[in-house]
Amino acid sequence: MVEERHEWATSLDSLLDQVWKRLARGVADRRAPARHPTLATISTDGMPQARTVVLRSADPTTAIATIFTDRSADKVDDVRAHPHAALHVWDNIAHLQMRLLADVAIKTGPLLEPIWDNLSHHARQCYGFQPASGDPIPDGLRYTKSPDVAAFAMLELTIQRMDILHLGYQHRRAEFLRNDQWAGQWIVP
Ligand SMILES: Cc1cc2nc3c(=O)[nH]c(=O)nc-3n(C[C@H](O)[C@H](O)[C@H](O)COP(=O)(O)O)c2cc1C
Repeated sequence: MVEERHEWATSLDSLLDQVWKRLARGVADRRAPARHPTLATISTDGMPQARTVVLRSADPTTAIATIFTDRSADKVDDVRAHPHAALHVWDNIAHLQMRLLADVAIKTGPLLEPIWDNLSHHARQCYGFQPASGDPIPDGLRYTKSPDVAAFAMLELTIQRMDILHLGYQHRRAEFLRNDQWAGQWIVP
């Protein structure tokens, strides 16, 4: 049998551990693959929507991840209507596809002030577009930015299920469930 290059992919525990390591790397390192997951939601009219976001936190203890956004962005309306989302990462270094299914809570207001205070001037420019994100404008730059904590929102993703695919000499795929205490189950790739 050919030896697996990523030894961590051969057991459920070490595979899950590697998932959290890769997500943590994404939070800490802007060049890491998990820095920019795709967030998929269900739009208010029931259609799928996917977009790139920045992963802001990923806590293995609570299995909660967070994303920052503009309060008026369509994705906020999406999760208000359907409070579920999927986060997708392809980590080409670890050869890992991570598909995380989560319940989503929208956080706004004074609760976010400590986070807002820590954002750079540059980072704040992403929150507070006028007209609102997604509105039609007559020309590509006919908008202004009024960064304000009132325009800032955090999406808190409580992960319920992980579908993890490792591409190795032989592919392995596992499902991890919150309601199974993340014990994990191998499944056919
Ligand atoms: C590299 C990259 C990172 C992005 N990060 C975020 C982000 O962290 N939060 C966010 O709301 N939008 C982010 N965006 C913009 C979204 O992809 C999207 O265009 C915007 O949020 C509007 O999406 P919506 O209309 O579905 O809400 C990012 C886009 C790119 C290309």
